[in-house]
Amino acid sequence: MQLFVDTADLKEIREAAEMGVIQGVTTNPTLLAKNGSGSVKQVIQEICSLVPEGPVSMECISDNAAGMLKEGREFVTWAPNVYVKVPFCVEGMKAVSVFAKEGIRTNVTLVFSTNQAILAASAGATLISSFVGRLDDIGFDGMQVIADVVALKQSFDWPSKILAASIRHPLHVTQAAAVGADIATIPFKVLKQMYDHPLTEKGIQLFQSDWQKLNQAVTA
Ligand code: E4P
Repeated sequence: MQLFVDTADLKEIREAAEMGVIQGVTTNPTLLAKNGSGSVKQVIQEICSLVPEGPVSMECISDNAAGMLKEGREFVTWAPNVYVKVPFCVEGMKAVSVFAKEGIRTNVTLVFSTNQAILAASAGATLISSFVGRLDDIGFDGMQVIADVVALKQSFDWPSKILAASIRHPLHVTQAAAVGADIATIPFKVLKQMYDHPLTEKGIQLFQSDWQKLNQAVTA
């Protein structure tokens, strides 16, 4: 499973890219708004340069297919690794089917059900973002939807990749990998939490202090 970072914060993306463990970035209007009021184009171009080999999703905000197509065709001129993020809806799927014919890569977002995933795959989505945390929040099992969508992808050999989005904690990442998601997009905080284990920290400290004792014994 590939790991993407789910943020528009350049400091976080720079740090995540330096870690060497992420293969892409997802943004959305909320994450971009948190980042301030500067030029979105510049922010996305900078993100693309920090993760040059990975998809960087930039979301359309129009509510109709013509508007989304105009936005998406502009976004892909910003950098070669921009994917056009399209909210799941009738107009969105119209736009995705045209983008697919034009060779423009898409990330269909706000998918919460297997039926929506079937429609997104049928429209030709490159990535299908199925949200876990937001479903859990309202008492549904978000990870079960990921598992069901992965099973459909395998049964029908969809070329679309299944992206586990709305990840809230490290266990979600493990579960997404276990059910066969192609990608998990992870908030930076969760990415850092994935590194933590008290036994690892304790082990590193012990190795360092034993190494120092050994060096002191050799030089004595
Ligand atoms: C995915 O691309 C979305 O930006 C994101 O995962 C949404 O997560 P949230 O439910 O934490 O806002």
